[in-house]
Amino acid sequence: MAAARTWEWFIGNFEHISKIDLTYYKRPQMERRISSFMRSIDINDYEEFIRVLKSDKVILERFILHITINVSEFFRNNNHWQKLVNDIIPDLLKQHSRIKIWSAGCSTGEEAYSLAILALEYNLPLDGKILATDIDRGVLEKADIGLYSKKAVENVPAAYLKKYFTQQGDFYRINDEIKKMVSFQRQDLLRDKFDKGFDLILCRNVVIYFTEESKNLLYKKFADAMRVKGILFIGSTEQIFQAKELGLTSVAIFFYQKQ
Ligand SMILES: C[S@@+](CC[C@H](N)C(=O)[O-])C[C@H]1O[C@@H](n2cnc3c(N)ncnc32)[C@H](O)[C@@H]1O
Repeated sequence: MAAARTWEWFIGNFEHISKIDLTYYKRPQMERRISSFMRSIDINDYEEFIRVLKSDKVILERFILHITINVSEFFRNNNHWQKLVNDIIPDLLKQHSRIKIWSAGCSTGEEAYSLAILALEYNLPLDGKILATDIDRGVLEKADIGLYSKKAVENVPAAYLKKYFTQQGDFYRINDEIKKMVSFQRQDLLRDKFDKGFDLILCRNVVIYFTEESKNLLYKKFADAMRVKGILFIGSTEQIFQAKELGLTSVAIFFYQKQ
């Protein structure tokens, strides 16, 4: 009988198929998620699993969705969005007449579309479209369709829901006026180059499974991609421990400013 394939063998082969390098992610959590997925399709060794991932595009897509965890919602952690609108953005507009915004790890688009809604509501002068990127092509396709469940729009104020969505049965479709303000692009935050000159970057609930080293690498790349005094807005369970070394200062909880 052939020896069982190792974790290293699996991640090497998986990278070939998907271009996703799992060495950047925390191994125990990833192993757990991968095992649970394998169990769900009745496979118990890496070699067979890789064979299936190579031959079955649907399973490959489902698996990528499973390991990247892409749950999102509009105005997630509503109170942080209040802070963004009331204090952070007005301060940014004191620096520059137009602001360049990026939703990094945008999943199915809720965060980027929330930003677009605010930009219209508050008449914010944007520098081009809002950039929204994710590693997972499947979620970007969903973002482009823009159809959301009741749960996803739970935090959307009734007036915005009426103005910027069209109800379709139990779902809500984002209007074209909002859609055309966002540019969705596929990007791996850990391996791809970034554009420059951002005033506001949102990277929320993306790094949960990244190793500490990958997180710092990413935060450094964000700092380099921002203009001086630009703001990085992170998730409600996150903290940047090495902020100072990376040239960032905490200006409010979950908001870091480039020095
Ligand atoms: C939980 S969602 C966060 C969505 C949104 N930012 C929010 O807070 O609601 C995490 C997203 O990060 C993406 N992601 C994970 N690793 C990534 C990477 N290396 N590059 C780009 N996106 C990544 C996943 O595909 C997933 O869609």
